[in-house]
Amino acid sequence: MVARIASVAFSGVDVKEVDVQVRIANGLPAFAIVGLADKAVAESRERVRAALESMGLSLPPKRITVNLAPADLLKEGSHFDLPIALALLAAMDVLPPDEIAGYLALGELSLDGSLSPVAGVLPAAIAAAAKARGFICPAACGPEAAWADGITVLAPENLLALVNHFKGSQVLTPPRAELAEDAERYPDLADVKGQETAKRALEIAAAGGHNLLMVGPPGAGKSLLAQRLAGILPPLDAREALAISMIQSVAGELKGKRLSRARPFRSPHHSASLPSLVGGGGKARPGEVSLAHHGVLFLDELPEFSGIR
Ligand SMILES: Nc1ncnc2c1ncn2[C@@H]1O[C@H](COP(=O)(O)OP(=O)(O)OP(=O)(O)O)[C@@H](O)[C@H]1O
Ligand SMILES: [Mg+2]
Repeated sequence: MVARIASVAFSGVDVKEVDVQVRIANGLPAFAIVGLADKAVAESRERVRAALESMGLSLPPKRITVNLAPADLLKEGSHFDLPIALALLAAMDVLPPDEIAGYLALGELSLDGSLSPVAGVLPAAIAAAAKARGFICPAACGPEAAWADGITVLAPENLLALVNHFKGSQVLTPPRAELAEDAERYPDLADVKGQETAKRALEIAAAGGHNLLMVGPPGAGKSLLAQRLAGILPPLDAREALAISMIQSVAGELKGKRLSRARPFRSPHHSASLPSLVGGGGKARPGEVSLAHHGVLFLDELPEFSGIR
């Protein structure tokens, strides 16, 4: 029998669904993961084995094959631990295979079976909602996942709590979507003395969403003014907050795993490399420009930037 559960692979903020299949067959004991998995995924074998042992379960002395489909899509990251463990438990008949097949899961396992937070939970939860699947993630990511509307979110502290939930002996409470307390305090525009024209330009740029290029003698207060732009922007509306949180989620920068209504303010140093500014690279991670979406990208000492020259 093949047990399966859905998971995801990321390319930028795009989510590709991955089908995690586990088959336990007769033969020499082995545990193999196939399907273009990188090092972190291959190591998941040891974490899964240890996590099952922590629950008093040992792997059956049979041939266990884990396939991550589609096989031509590169799978990276530690978030495949949880779906592999769940499909394995379903194949071992510890969890009900039919129910498990209706879920999308991601999460990293510790050796003691507890679940560690991973990046990208919000876009994954939204992908699960689009396919009308349930969603399983680590407890720490629950408030982030709860932002996806209309899905069942299970956010257990550890693997055992999840097994007990499916057995009906300990029901998990659904996590609540939380907004971060907007503790973000931007410097105040009132600190700037005089400079009425520059302040007016700043206000117009903030109101209309325009770009600003500041030119002037050293010490004129250019950096001082620019740092105060984010503080006079209106708070994010719900759609904008979700859009930037998706980017932060994939970059692993979502603070406290909660959505924030504060405008992003990014001020990369001028020695920053081109990929760190515009994103990309092998793993297609968002760069400073994407992280400043709907907020302020402050390039202090603009002519010094080697990356954009
Ligand atoms: N209008 C102002 N009100 C209050 N403080 C000011 C004002 N203009 C300048 N300052 C003071 O001068 C300091 C230097 O200003 P700032 O660093 O913004 O200059 P700059 O125009 O960015 O210069 P540079 O071209 O050297 O980067 C500020 O930290 C602030 O203490
Ligand atoms: Mg300056």
